[in-house]
Amino acid sequence: MAEFVEVAKTSEIPAGGAKVVEVNGKKIAIFHVDGEFYAIDDTCSHEDASLAAGTVDGTEVMCPLHGARFDLKTGKNLSLPAVFPVQSYALKIENGVIYIQV
Ligand code: FES
Repeated sequence: MAEFVEVAKTSEIPAGGAKVVEVNGKKIAIFHVDGEFYAIDDTCSHEDASLAAGTVDGTEVMCPLHGARFDLKTGKNLSLPAVFPVQSYALKIENGVIYIQV
């Protein structure tokens, strides 16, 4: 059954920034955009690149390696060369602590 796991404090991720956390051996990127936090797989679905190192534009991130864009809210792939989405994760914040559902 899915459970919420503590992954970071909100204070660790400045506005416009991202942090990679590891849960059950999987790298997950937490993004902080306009006061909201989003969690998606850190590894691009195209090749092996860290989306946390990508460029954020609104609620989209552009992969630093070949420029595929993903929706931070859903993980949906929005442009080539990525043809598959990445997983997105439900997230909650309590007392400045971020939990994601895995
Ligand atoms: S590795 Fe991300 S677009 Fe190629």
